[in-house]
Amino acid sequence: MSSSIGIVGIGAMGRNLALNLILKGHTVSAYDIDSDQLQQLQNENSNIRTFTSLGHFVDSLAKPRSILLSVSSHLVDEVLSDLLNFVEKEDSIIDGGNSHYKLTQTRQVLCEEKGIEFVGLGISGGPKGAKTGPSMMFGGKLSVWNRLSSLLQSIAAKSKEGLPCIDYLGDNGAGHFVKTIHNGIEYADMQLIAETYEILKRCNSLGNEEISDIFKKWNQGILSSYLLEISAEILVEKEQDRFLVDLIIDKAAQKGTGRWSSEIGLEYGIPLDLITIAVQQRIISSHKDKRVILANLYESNHSPTSVALEDLASAYLFARLLILEQAFNLIITVNTDQSWKINGGKLVKIWENGCIIRSSLIHQMSKLEEKDFSNLLLNPDYQEIIQHGLPSLQKILSSTITSGVSSPLFSSVMQYFLSITTSRLPSYLIQAQRDYFGSHGFERSDRTGLYRHKWLD
Ligand code: 6PG
Repeated sequence: MSSSIGIVGIGAMGRNLALNLILKGHTVSAYDIDSDQLQQLQNENSNIRTFTSLGHFVDSLAKPRSILLSVSSHLVDEVLSDLLNFVEKEDSIIDGGNSHYKLTQTRQVLCEEKGIEFVGLGISGGPKGAKTGPSMMFGGKLSVWNRLSSLLQSIAAKSKEGLPCIDYLGDNGAGHFVKTIHNGIEYADMQLIAETYEILKRCNSLGNEEISDIFKKWNQGILSSYLLEISAEILVEKEQDRFLVDLIIDKAAQKGTGRWSSEIGLEYGIPLDLITIAVQQRIISSHKDKRVILANLYESNHSPTSVALEDLASAYLFARLLILEQAFNLIITVNTDQSWKINGGKLVKIWENGCIIRSSLIHQMSKLEEKDFSNLLLNPDYQEIIQHGLPSLQKILSSTITSGVSSPLFSSVMQYFLSITTSRLPSYLIQAQRDYFGSHGFERSDRTGLYRHKWLD
């Protein structure tokens, strides 16, 4: 019997997606060059058909074929060009990795020239989510979505209402674009939790267990999120009598999706400084040697000024709201430019469960109307979060500065909010400077058109 889907690459994600598919009653073929890995997968579930020959793998699939690539993003082109030797018109190749959406667009054109459908499928939830139910972001032809949706929906995470956390987001890279911004939000949320932890540790002199307890308490209400939940668990993980977290070197790695988010923000002229600051902090963290040298010279010995937990909680929620506000602005802008089918309601449904950024705040956004997503800060519910968060954030920043504790994301939240809510910024001086040295011109409030001043006369 032919398999309903084939998976190329059975690393942690691919093997778990295969197991998930088999559990949901689908027939699966798996291809990998590593025969030991294939044997292990066979041992785990003998119904999965395994192949080390790409040709035999492709032949084992029902037509039109559906082939899911679960390979590192740098291998996609190589695997794709091998596969194109075997697939036939109307077959679909689905890239389930974290690829840049522009590469997905190029690959789709290349495949379509040969009559092959190409899909960019963002998959979130890590290997565990892949097995139990990932959140998925589909970008490709609507006809391909119509053909694949029931299979993909069957393995997706389910929302509280039982709806599958997957949807059609448009053609040409829409899925990978949304997955990239999902990851950008993930970067910012992680940085925010790390800063919150550091404030509790250094300003309030609390230990890992106490901070874990605070995170667990926060995780019972509107502040709750998957990332906060796992952070509470991480903080109390021990090896012998030592906390594991205290043994981990403070250099955060990155594979690129956070940076791509920032680059897209710059390209489209949408402020994305909260995600960008999180990317920058990973970069700064990687400069460990320099930091150690400079810490010997400059690290502060200020006595810590503690923060009130209610203030930290309010500032934390305020920050999370602004991270999402910036991300939604970018998504809406790019969606319009690319004529995709993304909307806020779909994203909230997809991100409700299974993905890394799932949280109460996102869940509650399911109540919003579509127009609310284009300016979250105008919504009355969020105005309350801001009214509480703003004075709290002021107090948090004053404590971190006097205590000498780095809190760049919290600071950026304040600076972004101050700027975006200032009706007249000093940017008019920048316009004057540009005109003075470059005769670039400026618009005036008392005239129409572009005006150039004769500064030097
Ligand atoms: C997810 C994750 C996943 C991966 C990140 C890690 O949604 O399941 O985002 O895709 O863990 O890409 O990214 P960094 O290595 O850049 O932190």
